[in-house]
Amino acid sequence: MKYKLSSKQGQFINLSDRFSAFIGGVRSGKSFAGTIGGIKLARRRKTVGAVIAPTYPMIRDVLIPLWQNLLPAKWVKKYSRSEHKLWLKNGSIVLFRSAEIPERLYGLTLHWFHIDEGAILPRKVWDVMLSRVISTKGHGFITTTPNGHNWIYELVKSGEISSVFAKTSDNPLIDAFEIERARRILDPKFFRQQYEASFEAYLGQVYDDFGERNIIPIEPRADLPTYLAADFGWRHPTALLWANVDSNGNIMFFDEVVESFLTPDVIAKIIRGEQVRLPSGKNFKSKIPLNMINGIIAGFEANQSRQESGGLAIIDLLNEMGIDKIRTVGGSIVRGVFAVRAKILSASGKPHLFIDPHCERLISDFRGYHYPENATGIASELPEKDNIHDHTMDAVRYLITGLAQGQRKWTI
Ligand SMILES: Nc1ncnc2c1ncn2[C@@H]1O[C@H](COP(=O)(O)OP(=O)(O)OP(=O)(O)O)[C@@H](O)[C@H]1O
Ligand SMILES: [Mg+2]
Repeated sequence: MKYKLSSKQGQFINLSDRFSAFIGGVRSGKSFAGTIGGIKLARRRKTVGAVIAPTYPMIRDVLIPLWQNLLPAKWVKKYSRSEHKLWLKNGSIVLFRSAEIPERLYGLTLHWFHIDEGAILPRKVWDVMLSRVISTKGHGFITTTPNGHNWIYELVKSGEISSVFAKTSDNPLIDAFEIERARRILDPKFFRQQYEASFEAYLGQVYDDFGERNIIPIEPRADLPTYLAADFGWRHPTALLWANVDSNGNIMFFDEVVESFLTPDVIAKIIRGEQVRLPSGKNFKSKIPLNMINGIIAGFEANQSRQESGGLAIIDLLNEMGIDKIRTVGGSIVRGVFAVRAKILSASGKPHLFIDPHCERLISDFRGYHYPENATGIASELPEKDNIHDHTMDAVRYLITGLAQGQRKWTI
């Protein structure tokens, strides 16, 4: 196949350092650039090299086809499908391996290796591969989209490996319209990471785009669907949040109850719309009663038995009291956080999540929800469960995850 490298791909191929990285947005030409790099080393002299990808399907569906397209057939001696091993006429050997079991990579002696999508792999894979090229003073390179401030960020920042950065838009074959579409729907940080190859830190405030634009007076509307987002607790507070949802995907929170020691009985009364006196002494009456609520969305924990309720799960207790609209949702927390971030502010700069100013607890939790930091100052990818801000934040995530998943996947 005749091809012309993009300028970023060209820069990467011409790096002379032993260890290097092509840090690129999705579809920026990473796998292509890495394959050209491997072919160059396999052709230059007799070498043994390895091409590594996170999973076997990525090897089979992405990397082997790239080699088939880009290495001229006249260089190939034979290829073993069962061993995923390629012999070149100049004596070079190329091994194709998945990194699913890093220990399996031990025992090879290599002159070069290429790791595709390294940022979703553990650092161990890199360490094992480095040990494979020590005796040969060989080369290693990674082609990947960034993934937060992880080990690849550390390698690049410390200068241990040289790097070239490429945005998705640096691949002339990609339709600019697709990139603009992604900018409109993705959370800004996620967009920068995925399309602009930026090492985004998820440090500090989880919802750092939350601001005044998300706080507006909201009158509950009976003509729109109403959902109740719930995170049930006992000593840790129970959080109940009422929201209207419109057909444009806007979520408007208009009421909240966040209180410890709410018994199932009191929770049932609150949900039904009865006037209740809360343990804190406040009186509360929901503006939208149960019969006008389209769904109550909670986390999977609502199915777990609770000691303080005689071993029954809250969902069962509420069901017994006639509250049968509860759906529980699961799913990845990290993905849920991204979905909430995209509601707070989409990459095109529009908010889709609004809170009435009297929901003070919810507003302060959006501002205070943060990531823990370990001793090295590297933030975790999971928000801190600090028992202050996480209850309303879990409820918001369940609601947004539940709405995104649709009724199809909900369980009762
Ligand atoms: N220099 C080039 N010449 C011709 N086609 C190219 C070139 N670079 C990339 N492509 C094509 O552009 C598309 C994206 O390239 P590639 O798969 O290497 O990108 P990627 O960054 O690895 O993408 P992904 O994020 O999906 O892993 C592929 O169809 C590939 O064949
Ligand atoms: Mg790729």
